[in-house]
Amino acid sequence: MFDLVKKLTGIFGVSGNEEEIREVIKSEITGYVDDIYVDPIGNLIAVKKGTGKKIMLAAHMDEIGIMATFIDDDGFIRFSNVGWVSQYYALGQRVKFKNGAVGAVFYEEKLDEMKNLKLSKMYIDIGAKNREDAEKKVRIGDTACFVGDTVQEGDMIISKALDDRSGCAVLIKVLKEMPETENELYFVFTVQEELGLRGAKTSAYRIMPDMAIAVDVTDTGDTPECELMEVKCGGGPAIKIKDRSIMAHPDVKRLLEESARELGIPYQYEVLEKGGSDPGAIHLTGGGVPSGAISIPCRYIHSPVETVNINDLENAAKLLKKCIAAKM
Ligand code: CO
Ligand code: ZN
Repeated sequence: MFDLVKKLTGIFGVSGNEEEIREVIKSEITGYVDDIYVDPIGNLIAVKKGTGKKIMLAAHMDEIGIMATFIDDDGFIRFSNVGWVSQYYALGQRVKFKNGAVGAVFYEEKLDEMKNLKLSKMYIDIGAKNREDAEKKVRIGDTACFVGDTVQEGDMIISKALDDRSGCAVLIKVLKEMPETENELYFVFTVQEELGLRGAKTSAYRIMPDMAIAVDVTDTGDTPECELMEVKCGGGPAIKIKDRSIMAHPDVKRLLEESARELGIPYQYEVLEKGGSDPGAIHLTGGGVPSGAISIPCRYIHSPVETVNINDLENAAKLLKKCIAAKM
């Protein structure tokens, strides 16, 4: 599992520029399913044919990042966010553009108080001599992701883009260990989740599944002086109850609970008070799709040091595999 996560997190895939990560996932899953295609806005869809219910599984390929908006005469690049990027997380980090150019992210030092720090007071330094020199590497509208090595310390994996490459890894593992089932399975690696669940919306419309389960990360309440939340890293995959985009469907919740109990794996419940996720778009598609999610507990979401527990990933894969094989 670690090697797969490391491979996926290392690939560029800022929302709207998922081409590279899509190719890597595609080559990883080729040969394991009946059909693989890319839909018009870029979602990667892998199908295992069946005569039973249509079940859609979703994990988003995209990661948050920044976009170059202005280059000054000295070659410093101003930027805005692609998805939610904290100015405090970004400060002092490295970002990498699609072509490999790396820059240091820093801020206008005259800023009187750190609490006034905004992305608009920050810039990227790619070591350019001037604007012309900078434009050889970076153009307005180019996107960049955080640089953050993927390492394992004990049971914890630390990396950028675990949101949601860890979910992609879970889907890939399940797909490769395809369970015996009559259900027709759609493994969907979505685009542009971080911009508002956009890929999930079109892929669900095309598939019109009987049920959907997404795998994505969620916040935890297990770090010093953090906000209260029941979810802990290492406490098992979390069964989504709600976030700001969805109330998980009772049937999906029950299926997840019963499957976890039968497997004898630890599980917990996720009540996320901020943020949405792909099932938020899926469940409102067509006449409605019963939807839910398995959430991977993750510390420091949207930073270059996102942290998950590898046992939670393994158990999430076991749980998903069991659920999708259920008779419905
Ligand atoms: Co996210
Ligand atoms: Zn996510």
